[in-house]
Amino acid sequence: MVERTLSIIKPDCVAAKNAGKVISMLEENGFNIIGMKKIHLTKKQAKKFYIVHKDRPFYDSLTDFMSEGPIVVMVLEKENAIADYRKLMGATNPEEAEEGTIRKLYGSNIERNAVHGSDSEESANYEIKFFFNELELV
Ligand code: CMP
Repeated sequence: MVERTLSIIKPDCVAAKNAGKVISMLEENGFNIIGMKKIHLTKKQAKKFYIVHKDRPFYDSLTDFMSEGPIVVMVLEKENAIADYRKLMGATNPEEAEEGTIRKLYGSNIERNAVHGSDSEESANYEIKFFFNELELV
């Protein structure tokens, strides 16, 4: 099934000038980038985006990090996009991620882990609508 998923290149990865390399990896792995923008979230917006984690001990630190600098948000489309992008990202903790994955290559630690990807169809729908309207998807 052709699916859509939301990808975020996080502030650590954008600041390190690795965004272009991540975008190349996405294209090389068959993902169509059907929407893309560079934005700087406020703390309030980051808290809203990560509302599912509101009771986790890392919520405050995570939302500080996600609002510290610009991010690149993209909608990716391909067959099986949600699971395939999660595989390409690698484990949440870069130390546990497989060789050649985005987080292994560009992540620093479990929080500053270079990229985000939707974890289910339900979260993809919420996350895509959070950043894009249908006119912005091509
Ligand atoms: P992400 O895939 O964007 O989803 C939630 C984010 O919270 C995750 O990537 C990490 O950036 C962060 N995160 C998850 N677990 C932890 C943790 N144990 N400590 C700190 N940050 C975490």
